[in-house]
Amino acid sequence: MGLIGLGNMGTAVAERLLEADFPLVVYNRTPSKAEPLAARGATVAGSAADLAGETDVVLTSLSDDDALEAVAGDVLSEPRPGTVLVDLSTVSPAASARVASVAEAASVDYLRAPVSGNPSVVRAGTLSFIVSGPRDALERVAPVIRAIGPTVHHVGEGEEARIVKLTINLMIAGLAQLMSEALVLGEAAGVSREALLEVMGSSAAGAPFVKYKTEPLLRDDYSATFTTALMEKDIDLILDAAEEHGVELPVARDLKGLLRAAVEAGHADDDFIALFLHLRSASRYSDQEVVR
Ligand SMILES: NC(=O)c1ccc[n+]([C@@H]2O[C@H](COP(=O)([O-])OP(=O)(O)OC[C@H]3O[C@@H](n4cnc5c(N)ncnc54)[C@H](OP(=O)(O)O)[C@@H]3O)[C@@H](O)[C@H]2O)c1
Repeated sequence: MGLIGLGNMGTAVAERLLEADFPLVVYNRTPSKAEPLAARGATVAGSAADLAGETDVVLTSLSDDDALEAVAGDVLSEPRPGTVLVDLSTVSPAASARVASVAEAASVDYLRAPVSGNPSVVRAGTLSFIVSGPRDALERVAPVIRAIGPTVHHVGEGEEARIVKLTINLMIAGLAQLMSEALVLGEAAGVSREALLEVMGSSAAGAPFVKYKTEPLLRDDYSATFTTALMEKDIDLILDAAEEHGVELPVARDLKGLLRAAVEAGHADDDFIALFLHLRSASRYSDQEVVR
């Protein structure tokens, strides 16, 4: 099978497929990211179209609408008969529907398969897929998908998975901001970050996300599992969907402003939990006052 897009998520997915002994062809726009995978047994294709010529299950994990549409155009230009395109990216329903039309014209089955998790979740083998598209195509690629992550929610035949993924990311972005506000308040009042995170993790608000972020926050480590820039992209997609469907999302609007401010402060490539760092730097309490 083939995988295009070796960013934070794509690399973790590729590693998992290699560990499960699937023969894997990879392609990435920036070739250097494929080198560690080649050393672990992956074949590196010279282009997305070349990759599509070598395999009939093509997975993509790409940053945004433009990236998916560009890559899908190449993959779908001369596909092998019986090809299934499985896209793991978080993109808009509109861009995904355009890809669906091109796929249909090329007689390629197309599964929208955005994922819920992060690279550590992939490596731990607990990634969840939200899938829409033809159920028989899903059955054909199920062994591959389940090797990456065991939980698969089939939510419809069209663009439903795109919307479901956006609803989840709205909740995650909101949780990251609320967690940041709670930590800033607690620390400013003299409670240690460790104590705050420990109690949060076992409280009614202690979602898996709180646990994923506990260790990095204790280390003040903001290296990205999912960048602030990509979370801003997702909030933009959420606000576009809200406008299209005529709903008001006041918190999503605020999150857009907060993420934009964090990006402008230099956190675009940091993990989006840098919302905390940004909020903290704007607060009056200083490093010296903080108990860790
Ligand atoms: N990270 C997470 O925790 C997470 C969780 C769930 C869903 N997602 C979603 O999964 C997708 C990938 O996320 P990520 O964190 O892996 O992002 P990332 O680290 O920024 O990687 C993005 C990938 O897209 C490629 N790309 C970007 N523009 C391109 C273009 N025009 N043509 C070809 N390739 C292009 C990049 O290639 P280069 O290396 O050449 O730049 C890279 O391989 C995103 O849609 C994200 O929203 C991420």
